[in-house]
Amino acid sequence: MDSEFSGHVMLQPHGLTVPLNDGTSAYFNYFWLRDNCPSSFDSQTRERIFDIFAQADEPVPETARISRDILEIVWRNDGHVTRYALDFLAHYAQGTKRTDPADLPRRLWYADHYTAIPRFSQPALLADTALVANWIKTLLVEGVAIVTDMPDSDEALTQTARLIGHIRPTFFGEYFDVRTHIAPTNLAYTARALELHTDTPAEDVAPGVQFLHCRANSVLGGDSLFLDGAAAATDLRAECPEDFALLSQTHIPYYCEHDDYDMRSRQKVIELDEHGEVSGVTISQHMADIFDLPQDFLDLYYPAFVRFGRMLQSPKYVMRFRLEAGECIVFDNHRIVHGRAAYTAESGERYLRGCYTDRGEMRSRYRALTTPGRFK
Ligand SMILES: [Fe+2]
Repeated sequence: MDSEFSGHVMLQPHGLTVPLNDGTSAYFNYFWLRDNCPSSFDSQTRERIFDIFAQADEPVPETARISRDILEIVWRNDGHVTRYALDFLAHYAQGTKRTDPADLPRRLWYADHYTAIPRFSQPALLADTALVANWIKTLLVEGVAIVTDMPDSDEALTQTARLIGHIRPTFFGEYFDVRTHIAPTNLAYTARALELHTDTPAEDVAPGVQFLHCRANSVLGGDSLFLDGAAAATDLRAECPEDFALLSQTHIPYYCEHDDYDMRSRQKVIELDEHGEVSGVTISQHMADIFDLPQDFLDLYYPAFVRFGRMLQSPKYVMRFRLEAGECIVFDNHRIVHGRAAYTAESGERYLRGCYTDRGEMRSRYRALTTPGRFK
């Protein structure tokens, strides 16, 4: 064998086994090898321009060899030559998932978290992309952060949200104003207590990141109540695995309807991520529709649902504080459960302006901000 050859490639019916630089070997499917050839991608758009669907036959190598840490394949049907660096192949050996900088382990928190919530000054965020990356990291890891020094304007909220992504409308528009309304269509628009919930589960996909900009808060009462749904659900998993299984596997109906809209969806109360870890919860008694599940199944489901609902109200989890004018609380709407104590409407002014952005776009932003040489 030529001295430049570092090992043998073994051709098999549908793929080949290639020795890697770390002394192991790995199997790769021929479709995969042909489809992901570096020449398949347009250098400008970075998108795949090769059409694997247009190949008449399964791709099969005429030859395959390793030379100077490069696997070189000559394909039988068209003579195309594909070259892969062995280090690149090592990243995908045995179905290894592509490394994702935004896939960060969550740090669960409990009722005493208020003083530890990371704070970010709005003018500083506008001036410093590294600080924006830290802010997003907090939202990925802890699910909640407070932006301080917010100017008292509608634009300030838009400007802040746009640091993370585009404004994500819901069926009631791009922004919402939480204050006492004359003819309320939603409990949030009254002075009554607002039970612990995540927002708008009646949508196909509930909005990802919520912003609540406090413009005024001089009323008696009206404390904010926030808790980490992932912390509570993780405890339920340990304490009552049967209940956890029911709540993380069963879709229940949610709705939101009034004169001219009738939103409906089905969601799981406990959401899991791709690793099987609890990513959060979807809970809202005021938007839970009448459960149209078999009644004998509800013999099992309702006790689990009620047990978890009570857990969410436990002093172990609920952080109680007063949101001040000039603060904007930002949180993962699929993880952080929030509510409000009742207040006395005539005692002063209480006004929160809110909007949402998308979680996928937030992760995209984080990857772009934290990959050297990428962000412009
Ligand atoms: Fe809400």
